[in-house]
Amino acid sequence: MKNWFAAVLALVSLVVAGTVVLRQQVPVEAAAPQAAKTGQAALTAFDPQVDKLLAQMTLDEKVGQMTQAEQGELPKDLSDVDGLFLGSVFSGGNSDPSPANTVQDWTEMYDRLMARSLKTRLKIPILFGIDAVHGHSNVVGATIFPHNVALGATRNAKLVEEVHRLTALEVRATGIQWTFAPCVTVPQDIRWGRAYEGFSEDPALVAELGAAAVRGLQGTNLADPLRILACAKHFAGDGGTVWGTGRPEANGPRRPLDQGDVTLDEPDIKRIHMQGYISALKQGVGTIMPSYNSWKGVKASASERLLTGILKKEMGFEGFVISDYNALDDIPGDFRSDIKTSINAGMDMVMVPSKYKEFYRLLKSLAESGEVPMARIDDAVRRILRVKFAMGLMDPKRNQLADRKLQASVGSAEHRAVARQAVRESLVLLKNDKKLLPIAATAKRIHVAGVGANDIGIQAGGWTITWQGQAGPVTKGTTILDGLKAAVKSGTNVTYAADGSGAAGADLAVVVVGERPYAEMFGDTTDLAINKDDLAALAAVKASGVPYVVVVLSGRPVILGDIATSAGAIVAAWWPGTEGQGVADVLTGTYKPTGKLAFTWPKSVAQLPLNKQSKNAAEALYPFGFGLSY
Ligand code: BGC
Ligand code: BGC
Repeated sequence: MKNWFAAVLALVSLVVAGTVVLRQQVPVEAAAPQAAKTGQAALTAFDPQVDKLLAQMTLDEKVGQMTQAEQGELPKDLSDVDGLFLGSVFSGGNSDPSPANTVQDWTEMYDRLMARSLKTRLKIPILFGIDAVHGHSNVVGATIFPHNVALGATRNAKLVEEVHRLTALEVRATGIQWTFAPCVTVPQDIRWGRAYEGFSEDPALVAELGAAAVRGLQGTNLADPLRILACAKHFAGDGGTVWGTGRPEANGPRRPLDQGDVTLDEPDIKRIHMQGYISALKQGVGTIMPSYNSWKGVKASASERLLTGILKKEMGFEGFVISDYNALDDIPGDFRSDIKTSINAGMDMVMVPSKYKEFYRLLKSLAESGEVPMARIDDAVRRILRVKFAMGLMDPKRNQLADRKLQASVGSAEHRAVARQAVRESLVLLKNDKKLLPIAATAKRIHVAGVGANDIGIQAGGWTITWQGQAGPVTKGTTILDGLKAAVKSGTNVTYAADGSGAAGADLAVVVVGERPYAEMFGDTTDLAINKDDLAALAAVKASGVPYVVVVLSGRPVILGDIATSAGAIVAAWWPGTEGQGVADVLTGTYKPTGKLAFTWPKSVAQLPLNKQSKNAAEALYPFGFGLSY
């Protein structure tokens, strides 16, 4: 009897012990196959080390890891980096190092911040984040690649991967290890001012090229010191907001689309706007940025369904979620309640450019009161640490300061050659009925018109050196005019007038028209119009009677109006970046055009939104996939 009882007791305790062991293992065991399936296993692989470190951390240290401050807002001595145990620092679109925007100063800024973070008790290095969205695009002298709208037209995943590999290298050359890219938005209405940040209106093409971009940025091993951490953004539906729901300007009218509301049902938002995340996850992407937009009235940054339900649970994302710039402020309520809502919804790190101290204090008090459960804090920090371990940041043998030997790669001839190839492959020949292109070798004089023909800032577009981008010689590069001068046959004379005057007597005119640079919040348009000065230059050329080719520099298809019929040839060049020779290569026929539209080109704004899946897709001026050659 006694024995029997002891045996049962032993059995029961074994089962109980087994259950306990099993319980502890469940998260890891259950996560592993899911992580492998989703391409996230490289992150969960570090969980044993992560959990050991996590167990040593104080609440202050945990809250610090979840905080991301803007570098320009830190005190001069950078003491908040170690004082608040900051997990990350970033540079916004208008934020440069001091004293100057040079590779040297960027690198030194990075090193100073990194050194400061290594002063903390646990020596957890910071992550430095930046919008390297078409090359290391804040840095004067870096190679500026074509924007995603152009890369989409190349339909060349290998090339997109290479462009991003080189971007990673140039970013690393300044020490920085994290870019808020790629943007895997699927813009459904090109009147949106961020349409150019997307590869295509087509979810499948975005998924393919988005994965290629992540592969190029991160490589196959996040610890690769020549690669950087990627961030797929903006989750989810940024390109699917309903006309008229955009964010109001400060004390002004409502912007039509930017940061608006998506009303699609779940299967549709998944089918259209989430394909790029699935492919990025499979590629091992380590971070995701939730969008400024809302979904059925709920801001993405406040949506537990989006961040935890879909992204983390269904899709199996194991990295961390980084908020957009001050995005929590858009959640209804005061800052404390915004933080509570967002962190509980699944936000892991918060981009709080200037209010980082307040954020830190409030999040700490929310954790202390239990309004944000400790389990949620631990989950967020675990995710951040996973990424840091996977990147080799926690390797004590590794030098976390910038590798100065890489600096020579910034804007190098090799990188510019790849950018030039990307430009060539992204140009779409829309019209050539009069066979004006390629430019005849026998031409005596080519007259070039339009200010964009000789302006690096205009050809590079938004998110270049400054947030919105701007006209002018903002960085080093080759303009289209310089490219043409170098590319034409020796007997051909290239003349230029921004206003289009002086065309008479030329064999051919090349008129560059389009949009001026813009970025988020300022790029929404109701008319998709071509700049008026450009139209005046075009009119001057037209009046001369010289046959002309129109080159369109823009972030999206624009309304061509009668240019579609009157121009002898039309080339869409998007925003090609610093390598204007790529445009000249196509115009002169050194490279025969291969680009195919990744966005439907409408006749009029009345047709919008117009996509390949629209009922009226056949009424487009040039359909999705269109592109001629010689
Ligand atoms: C943009 C993001 C960007 C962030 C940091 C935000 O306003 O929406 O795309 O990564 O700023 O500059
Ligand atoms: C910053 C950008 C940021 C934007 C958002 C700008 O001042 O430079 O990085 O995306 O503000 O408000």
